[in-house]
Amino acid sequence: MKTNFRKCTHAFTALILLITFACTNYQIPDNPLADNPVNNPLSATESTCDSDTVYFQNTILPLVVSSCATTGCHDKVSHRDGIILTDYASIIRTGEIKPGDPGDSEFFETLTDDGDDLMPPPPYSPLNSDQIQQIKTWIHQGAINNACNDGCDTTLVTFSQTIWPMMQNYCTGCHSSASPGGGIVIAGYDDMVSLAGNGSLMGSIRYESGYSPMPINKPLSDCNITQLQKWIDDEFPQ
Ligand code: HEC
Repeated sequence: MKTNFRKCTHAFTALILLITFACTNYQIPDNPLADNPVNNPLSATESTCDSDTVYFQNTILPLVVSSCATTGCHDKVSHRDGIILTDYASIIRTGEIKPGDPGDSEFFETLTDDGDDLMPPPPYSPLNSDQIQQIKTWIHQGAINNACNDGCDTTLVTFSQTIWPMMQNYCTGCHSSASPGGGIVIAGYDDMVSLAGNGSLMGSIRYESGYSPMPINKPLSDCNITQLQKWIDDEFPQ
């Protein structure tokens, strides 16, 4: 009985020693992404847009979502290769973005790859050089979660100045002729007039029931929605 008790105490002491040893020697493993601002809150919206700065919320997020987070690719449901490109934290983390260093950021490398890793892959078209440059500058400037107030004007709305740039920013990546989401192609003026005419344009961007909400993961700003309505009310100025 006594020996059993002693054995037990020894075992117990050994266990305590082991735990103490394990705990004091435990180190948090090196996290290569530790310096990534994944948990950065959205920085305050700047009251005007600085023309030398590329803003995540205004330019990069809509561009990445409509070019990469297409159904079947890098949206939350499909997350091909574990890569999700629908929000700031996921873009930084799964896109392995190194703030300040586009050349060492996996996401950026695939946009300019000259082999099989080029993204978006065929039949989609690669991003154009302006879009690639914007992403490069944004990473260079620290890949922060920034936004600016673009002074959205709802009085003078035209297709070329207002509507088309908005579509290119938020919609055409998913509605190009190479990858027409839901079979809907948005390639220019006539397509917009016909979508406006059949009601599906305003129904979808207002997230009305009976329509698929567009863009898929975040509605346009109230100002952009007002601009589209104004363009329709003014009978589609060019
Ligand atoms: C991430 C990809 C994606 C983006 C970005 C996107 N769409 Fe779509 N859109 C789709 C898909 C896919 C469908 C087919 C319906 C569905 O699967 O929900 C669709 C359907 C539609 C429809 C038909 C809706 C209906 O219920 O009849 C309209 C209109 C439309 N989109 C317009 C737009 C406009 C305008 C924008 C930009 C403001 C936009 N989409 C942005 C993928 C996208």
